[in-house]
Amino acid sequence: MRGSLAVLWFLAMPNFVSACSVSELPSGRGRTVSIQGVQVALFNNQGTFHACANSCPHRGGPLAEGDFDGATVTCPWHGFQFDVATGQAADGRAYRIPVYATRVVDGKVEIALA
Ligand code: FES
Repeated sequence: MRGSLAVLWFLAMPNFVSACSVSELPSGRGRTVSIQGVQVALFNNQGTFHACANSCPHRGGPLAEGDFDGATVTCPWHGFQFDVATGQAADGRAYRIPVYATRVVDGKVEIALA
């Protein structure tokens, strides 16, 4: 029984992968990173990092290139807005983007896709 719990605990652990150095992403900015072949938009709000899908669910606009106000990113193609912490559309639309866990370890931003 104890071994089974250990296996379940291990399987539930997020698999964090290094994305970039903290110094590579100034506060208030976003950038695209590739994590295990997935394009992820990474944002820095005063040292708090948020990661979400880079592709806008409307027509695939590159969200990492959108305006970022510290909480919301605006898609550069048609202006849809998303809360980068929750993935919810900030303007009430029925769109949502996946968001991913982040952490900082030894000056590196790490992201877990699951
Ligand atoms: S592609 Fe993002 S709003 Fe249209």
